[in-house]
Amino acid sequence: MNAETALAAPLASLLDEARRAALHSYSPYSGFRVGAALRLTNGETVTGTNVENVSYGLTICAERAALVRAVSRFGPEIRIEAVAIANLNSSASPPCGACRQVLAEFILPDAPVVFPVSDGLHTMAFSALLPLATEMKLK
Ligand code: THU
Repeated sequence: MNAETALAAPLASLLDEARRAALHSYSPYSGFRVGAALRLTNGETVTGTNVENVSYGLTICAERAALVRAVSRFGPEIRIEAVAIANLNSSASPPCGACRQVLAEFILPDAPVVFPVSDGLHTMAFSALLPLATEMKLK
């Protein structure tokens, strides 16, 4: 059984959506085409792709593009219950540190995150990807 057939059906279809989103990637500088799909607790799925910029530093990753789109469409109460990340380059692409931090704002700690690694796919609970996430308790 390959890595993908071992995935539960909902995660496999989320991964398909991430792949489809990657087809829209704007990545003329790196050529790295990434897609992300977020499943929300309201039953909706929202996708995003990476949008690069000539400045390089202003590039937006697929995961953050999807998250900003999700909040824009459904509002600040959204919660993410699963994430899938794909790329069209047959390469590993775990979410970058900045994307982990931004996802932390809206994601359930136990949410599975599936992403490509060098020899297939990896699925991890979000809390394992970003342990000890920053929280602010205001008095
Ligand atoms: N990229 C993502 O879209 N997500 C990540 O988590 C890591 C990197 C994009 C940014 C850039 O357009 C390209 O991949 C190369 O770093």
